[in-house]
Amino acid sequence: GLTGLADQFGRVARDLRVSVTDRCNLRCTYCMPAEGLPWMPKPDMLTDDELVRIVGLFVRDGITQVRLTGGEPLLRRSLVDVVAAISALRPRPKIAMTTNGVGLDRLARPLAAAGLDRVNVSLDTIDSETFTRLTRRDRLSDVEAGLKAAADAGLTPVKVNAVAMRGVNDADVADVLAWCLDRGYELRFIEQMPLDAQHAWERSDMVSAAEIRERLSERFTLTPLPAADRGSAPAERFLVDGGPATVGIIASVSQPFCAACDRTRLTADGQVRNCLFSTTETDLRGPMRDGATDDELLGLMRGEMWRKRRGHGIDAPDFVQPDRPMSAIGG
Ligand code: GTP
Ligand code: 5AD
Ligand code: SF4
Repeated sequence: GLTGLADQFGRVARDLRVSVTDRCNLRCTYCMPAEGLPWMPKPDMLTDDELVRIVGLFVRDGITQVRLTGGEPLLRRSLVDVVAAISALRPRPKIAMTTNGVGLDRLARPLAAAGLDRVNVSLDTIDSETFTRLTRRDRLSDVEAGLKAAADAGLTPVKVNAVAMRGVNDADVADVLAWCLDRGYELRFIEQMPLDAQHAWERSDMVSAAEIRERLSERFTLTPLPAADRGSAPAERFLVDGGPATVGIIASVSQPFCAACDRTRLTADGQVRNCLFSTTETDLRGPMRDGATDDELLGLMRGEMWRKRRGHGIDAPDFVQPDRPMSAIGG
């Protein structure tokens, strides 16, 4: 039989990304339509106990970092309790969260006290009008307050994620970097991936890593960090003006990092996904509610990992975008 969360290409999952809700309080144009999406019915969602049981099984099987995502994870009312329960697992995994930062102002401290180690905050622009146009909500000041609260609560290193979009924020990348440098946040730019609910992504329209790097180089000197130190991290990092500060670029499309991937995913409705781009999932919720044992659930999790494909195949002629949008996978 199989042992651990391994696949046929020799990769082993160490990092579990858990989507705790598919709901969001922003409406980023690259993610959701203005009216939002048909949200998951409550009865389909894992309860806290179910979620923590599954995370515990993953931890037993080699997961050492758990990342909470959404939709917007702060919208799950029980989030602090979920963090505390994950923090009580042994061996205790590292606990991180990817959030849009709205409401983090209030929650950073309780989350840190419950055991959250660090946060990544999505912020694509520091221009208030652009932010409001892009997210369809006037919340830039909330995100700024959230970032500050996270740093004050010790949820460090605080990272900022910015998806680069042509004609929206591509001309401002150096301004966003200067802003993050001033505040001690580690900025990473992200190539946009075909995961939008609207299926509007076009390869030719994507702002590439090379383009982002060129734009940044107009104002800053970027020195690549040794590739050997990157491990399974999505971001290629550069020292800015000799360091110590760094900036990252996540070139998911133009320079895929699938070969070193150590990630697996759990959706809010209890499906295991072996890849962001997987077109199949393995249901744990049904079997669990039907009384499956821990070993039976572990078998299902391992089976899903074993089926993981070599790469995302975005450039392949037969590429199909997954049905599940980014907001219900959690990135
Ligand atoms: P760190 O541990 O802080 O480096 O976190 P992270 O960068 O893995 O997580 P985060 O949620 O901040 O994701 C940043 C970007 O990387 C998002 O656009 C994610 O969708 C993308 N990303 C994360 N994991 C993967 C992956 O396995 N494959 C691809 N293609 N993109 C990923
Ligand atoms: N491509 C790349 N990144 C995306 N994100 C959301 N949609 C996309 C996309 N289509 C980012 C969010 C967040 C992270 C989880 O993924 O901005 O920072
Ligand atoms: Fe919400 Fe994140 Fe989607 Fe923006 S990208 S609408 S913050 S889930």
